[in-house]
Amino acid sequence: MTMPQPDPQALAHSAVLAARIGDAIRADGGWLPFDAWMARALYEPGLGYYAGGAHPFGAGGDFVTAPELSPAFADCIAAQLAEWFAHCDPVVIEFGAGTGRLAAGVLGALRALGRPAHRYAIVELSGTLRAQQRETLARLVPEALDTVEWLDALPATIDGVVIGNEVLDAMPVRLFEHAGDGALDEIGVAVDDAGDFRWAARPADAGLRDAVAEALRAAARADPYGGGGSDGDGTYADDPPWALLGPGRYRSELGLQAAAWIGTVGRALRRGAMLLVDYGFPAREYYHPQRDGGTLIAHRRHHAHGDVLRWPGLQDVTAHVDFSAAARAASGAGLALLGYTSQARFLLNCGLLERLAESTRDGAVDPGSVRALGAVQTLLSEAEMGELFKAIAFGRGLPPVPLGFVRGDRSGSL
Ligand SMILES: C[S@@+](CC[C@H](N)C(=O)[O-])C[C@H]1O[C@@H](n2cnc3c(N)ncnc32)[C@H](O)[C@@H]1O
Repeated sequence: MTMPQPDPQALAHSAVLAARIGDAIRADGGWLPFDAWMARALYEPGLGYYAGGAHPFGAGGDFVTAPELSPAFADCIAAQLAEWFAHCDPVVIEFGAGTGRLAAGVLGALRALGRPAHRYAIVELSGTLRAQQRETLARLVPEALDTVEWLDALPATIDGVVIGNEVLDAMPVRLFEHAGDGALDEIGVAVDDAGDFRWAARPADAGLRDAVAEALRAAARADPYGGGGSDGDGTYADDPPWALLGPGRYRSELGLQAAAWIGTVGRALRRGAMLLVDYGFPAREYYHPQRDGGTLIAHRRHHAHGDVLRWPGLQDVTAHVDFSAAARAASGAGLALLGYTSQARFLLNCGLLERLAESTRDGAVDPGSVRALGAVQTLLSEAEMGELFKAIAFGRGLPPVPLGFVRGDRSGSL
């Protein structure tokens, strides 16, 4: 299957955004750090991928997320929220709510469980998506619509549960390249005379060096085998442990905005939890010597490809999540790590199979239930979303070991 060319109208839209980013690059001396480029490509008002009226989600879009695949995903999240609501305000704040499917599913399932949310706040940057979310909620859970509100910004204080599915991976990342022995560049974007973007390196500043060093120390600490250039006991003679990246060229990302976001939300959280689901790994796997090209990728029309500078505004740009960095940021905000596990394990712990058995109890095998089973298989399968995607939970004032993490918790790997 080849990737379809955008139509002329879409190309014209992208050209306007590209020209605007090109002007910003020239105004900044010919170079923008990649996170600044990515922020504009995804969120430039009226033009960016998530802010310009594109329809990224579902079969007709660019990618499919778990809440779009199966209502069972929202049912499981609701089971976890219901448990927490015994210990904190029954309030949900969802970040980046996509089409509104997760919100609708969670609101409906919480009612069915007898623990309705008193308030469901959605923090959404895109006006188009807000309208779509309102339409989804009005169609699927009209009785709960009056509990839903949309926020432009993070509230100063939060009592309740924050949720986000595939939100961290959409936050802009810094890019670095290591050329051996601590020689570190930052990779950014330049623009040529024809207006085309190209990668361009600059020596890393002190802030980026420190951040890479911190990520590598975490990768070294979490290495239970003491391999990959360590002194055999998991400690390194050199600090930072550059040897971990191997002797050749090594390019990767740092999710500094995601970490800052977790810190800000975490500090606002007075009593409650934060539950995030996304694709990624602990630092040891993220900065593995074999992952020398990083995880940055573009998605368009169900094709994943490496040409991320092409067609700004028309394709998603995303990087995997370093969950060790996420845990560090939450800990810095005074939150407890409540659990970290694979999506498959989280969903199974939340009773996915029992829910499925109930819904097919009458033994009817119609095309609808076969499709539903196929979707659940995609959520659970190691070869698809089950293993690459992880769930992580942080909290303040909540008991340890929530439902979703009772078996298969991997917090020790972070
Ligand atoms: C890949 S989409 C996932 C959408 C939805 N959660 C789902 O699972 O279908 C990423 C979403 O995160 C949103 N996002 C990224 N950074 C955000 C932030 N700081 N605050 C709120 N939303 C954000 C984007 O606007 C986008 O809607």
